[in-house]
Amino acid sequence: MEQGWLSEEEIEALQDIWEKVFKSAEDVGVILLVRLFTGHPASKQYFPMFKDLETADDLKASAKLRWHAGRVMGSLDKAVRSLRKPEELIKILRAVGLSHARKATPVDVKYYHILGGIIMDVLLETFKDELSPTARSAWTKLLGTLCTEFENAYREEGVLEQAAA
Ligand code: HEM
Repeated sequence: MEQGWLSEEEIEALQDIWEKVFKSAEDVGVILLVRLFTGHPASKQYFPMFKDLETADDLKASAKLRWHAGRVMGSLDKAVRSLRKPEELIKILRAVGLSHARKATPVDVKYYHILGGIIMDVLLETFKDELSPTARSAWTKLLGTLCTEFENAYREEGVLEQAAA
């Protein structure tokens, strides 16, 4: 990723949308994760405390899910604030990637791609026409970078193949 990977216009468009999303950070985070876990129940395996929760309502009521939702949104917020400083952005994403790679069972990297797709879907549904082509391309690039940097961190830890098995 290089300086100028996003144009100034793209950064502003992305941050403008994020400011609105972040006002309800935890609620949005819960929506994203409930979609992930209901659509892909195997992804619940990493959270033993709620792997038996089946319905969206049970998942929504889980304090652990809300906790992780807050962490995900907090990390994304840090990333969004660092768009003009690619080195800082990479540091932030690497740290989260490493922490997930080091878990007893490293989270399968495919779930970052799936979650990225869910984030994009929710943005498109929520903002519809407000999400300009510039904002869309910026979000696509950021979510792509997130997956790439997480995979780099897994590679660094030597767990990429293992996590994708
Ligand atoms: C955008 C993607 C994600 C971000 C930014 C993110 C961020 C975080 C952060 C900041 C933490 C707290 C620090 C830590 O324990 O590492 C965390 C914990 C965790 N995350 Fe994620 N996460 C993401 C995706 C996922 C996915 C897709 C899964 C599994 C399906 C997952 C599973 C976990 C687990 C199991 C923990 C530890 C929970 C505990 O300590 O009880 N994460 N995540």
